[in-house]
Amino acid sequence: MKYSSIALLTGGLLATTPANALSAATAPGFWDDPVNHPLMPLYALSLFAAIVAMLVVVVCISLLRVLNVLINLSEKERAEKHGIAYVPRGSFWQQFVQKANASVPLTQEQDIDMGHDFDGIRELDNHLPPWWKWLFAGTAVWAVAYLVVYHLYGNLPLQQEEYDQEVAVANEVARQRKAAQPVEEIDVNALKYIADAAILEKGKGVFANNNCGSCHRADGGGNTIGPNLTDAYWLHGGGIQNIFNTIKTGVVEKGMPAWGKTLSPQDVRDVTFYVMSLQGSNPADGKAPQGDLFEETHAAPDSTAVQASL
Ligand code: HEC
Repeated sequence: MKYSSIALLTGGLLATTPANALSAATAPGFWDDPVNHPLMPLYALSLFAAIVAMLVVVVCISLLRVLNVLINLSEKERAEKHGIAYVPRGSFWQQFVQKANASVPLTQEQDIDMGHDFDGIRELDNHLPPWWKWLFAGTAVWAVAYLVVYHLYGNLPLQQEEYDQEVAVANEVARQRKAAQPVEEIDVNALKYIADAAILEKGKGVFANNNCGSCHRADGGGNTIGPNLTDAYWLHGGGIQNIFNTIKTGVVEKGMPAWGKTLSPQDVRDVTFYVMSLQGSNPADGKAPQGDLFEETHAAPDSTAVQASL
């Protein structure tokens, strides 16, 4: 990519810019280990060059000042030799400001008076200040440079391309992240419940971390929003398959979120197991049963099948 070196130069120090997101995802970021970063010499050199440039500017300004003093001195001498009254020149900066503004001094304002008088407010025929015209010319030059660089030669990407590239980089990073931790789909039909302590522990965590308790009560006994998950009555069917599907797709119009959108299949399975484990726990003041009594029609759980499906 043509612009990559520029992007590195400008954005490299901020290791989080999208242009570097890809490399940041694969290689360690600049700030992780600045000393050993491969681009460190480049950055150090740039910094050094910037400092030298700054010093050069400072020295130049001092030199100009000295020069100004000398010029003033020699002009004073010459004026004295010719017997003319000497008017010292201002500093370069003062001269520059005068040039940039070129404002008409108060004493000469009558020369540009338009003769329009509005209750004592008089109109002057002031021209546009030169700094403004320089700026205008600058924008014209900039426009030409922009046209050439962005449109004719395409050395730098336009906004849309820049956006597309950033999206492509982000997609690539997301793809790599997904590839690094593949999501194993859960075959819901093969699921069978067993009281596996590890899964139940994880499911309990999922239940707590996603505030299932805010709608179903911390012990699953139900509250004004969500139904009791501990009884044998179900609105959307009991049994591991139905419960898994209800949690995964939710009952959005009734206020039960579709957890399959935010939780991994494993998390949905784990929390399903946890909900199954609440069966018959009969917490105090549980919500009255809702829906239909669900009776397991399957044969007794076969623990080998469960292990195979996990
Ligand atoms: C914002 C409130 C809310 C949250 C949070 C919530 N639920 Fe629900 N849930 C509901 C409502 C409301 C229903 C009943 C839907 C209906 O009436 O059809 C429900 C129904 C269910 C059912 C089916 C009950 C039945 O009788 O068929 C299960 C299972 C369930 N939720 C599990 C969960 C789990 C697990 C979580 C956390 C991951 C959770 N819910 C988080 C509101 C919520």
